[in-house]
Amino acid sequence: MTKRLSIVGIGYVGLSTAVGFAIKGYQVHALTHNSEKAQKINQGIPPFHEPDLQKNLQEAVNKKMLKCTAKDADMILNTDITFIATGTPSKSDGSIELKYIKETAKEIGTKLRKKQSYHLVVVKSTVVPGTTERILKPIIEKSSGKQCGKDFGLCMNPEFLRQGAALQDTLNPDRVVIGEFDKRSGETLFNLYRDFYGSDTPILRTSLSTAEMIKYASNAFLATKISFINTIANICEQVPNVDVKKVAEAMGLDKRIGKAFLNAGIGYGGSCFPKDVKALIAFSEEVGYEPILLKSTETVNQAQPNRVVQLCKNLLGDLNGKSIAILGLAFKPETDDMREARAIPIINKLLQEGAKVIVYDPVAIPTARTIFKEKIRYAVSAIDCLKNADCCILVTEWDEFKNLTSEDFRKNMKKPILIDGRRIYNPEKFSQKIFFKAIGLGNKSENTRAKELV
Ligand code: UGA
Repeated sequence: MTKRLSIVGIGYVGLSTAVGFAIKGYQVHALTHNSEKAQKINQGIPPFHEPDLQKNLQEAVNKKMLKCTAKDADMILNTDITFIATGTPSKSDGSIELKYIKETAKEIGTKLRKKQSYHLVVVKSTVVPGTTERILKPIIEKSSGKQCGKDFGLCMNPEFLRQGAALQDTLNPDRVVIGEFDKRSGETLFNLYRDFYGSDTPILRTSLSTAEMIKYASNAFLATKISFINTIANICEQVPNVDVKKVAEAMGLDKRIGKAFLNAGIGYGGSCFPKDVKALIAFSEEVGYEPILLKSTETVNQAQPNRVVQLCKNLLGDLNGKSIAILGLAFKPETDDMREARAIPIINKLLQEGAKVIVYDPVAIPTARTIFKEKIRYAVSAIDCLKNADCCILVTEWDEFKNLTSEDFRKNMKKPILIDGRRIYNPEKFSQKIFFKAIGLGNKSENTRAKELV
């Protein structure tokens, strides 16, 4: 059983996989093109915010189980399995950009030319069905001068980890999917994962293309579940005394539906759902099927951030010169990642309307500064953010914000108007002291007391 692994690409997936294997006793060599990143990793410093990662990375580095190098792909030769975790971003038309993963495949193949023994290449990056077999395999064969199935093996092993819980998900996945080119490839990876996880974790073995599709289908389904509940939320808002939160809670108790991913709000962001839904739409059209459902998922998601801005306009009228406080910037809690974060379209729209925007996030302010520069103001705390604001929009559901009371809003804001974009506050309690609006919350036969407060 091999204990020597290499991983090319050291983003969320690559680094979490590397650290996961390293702390469980595997010798891991990580490769990147970014020497600054490699240097940081070798000092035990993760290049992004992720709970538990720093502690475990430090441990792996100290025990000399994980080493990261830049531009030294020869290290692959000292290992038996190489994972590809290179990014596969979207092109401007939504289809998948394979440029980087193709370069990685070529780089690995070139190195394998010198290797005498069998080597397994495992694609972990998200790629549309057919990519591993039709695009990556020929590249590796050509650059290595070797034959897939004979001299080297090939698997597609999609990753299901969530940011903010990356290491936890790496160590305790619901399932492992192995797409295999041939039996030997699949067997080699299966043995690695049985050794790593023991016998409790289900391991499914499929064709390469089915494994690729499982990843897209899983993300597209979760994204659709979110757009579905947001659609219901938008209907609920039109009806007095209906609350989407209760609707979702009751729906979720039906085992066939399940409660996960039924949190209504301002939509999904991040580096995966928006990109993967778009890529699956583009792929589907390319192979001759118009994916109406997926297009609707995407349309609902794009419109959702506007709803809180519209609520704000309905309440304040002209937004020109009004001060709007934004609580939360990251695309979800426990990360500083703002890729496709819903805060971005919300802030842009508010600025377009002439509003003055002040923001606070426990960790994502440095990221926000690179996006908005001096166009907005950055607060030093949640309370500081609320000071003298005409309206507050809750955008990311950090625990820190859940602890705020209606009194905090009432005392600090110019007008105590709160729009809960993630449904973290209790409408009954909050409506008593401030003017409270929320996604998916039907109007109480117009809250007159709250109106008086404003
Ligand atoms: C997602 C998947 O959950 C992972 O399984 C997958 O491995 C990953 O994409 C990927 O493809 O790499 P991630 O993007 O890290 O993980 O975060 P999620 O927790 O799925 O949240 C995505 C977005 O959906 C966030 O903006 C979140 O606020 C939103 N969301 C989530 C909702 O609006 N409502 C919900 O009920 C759940």
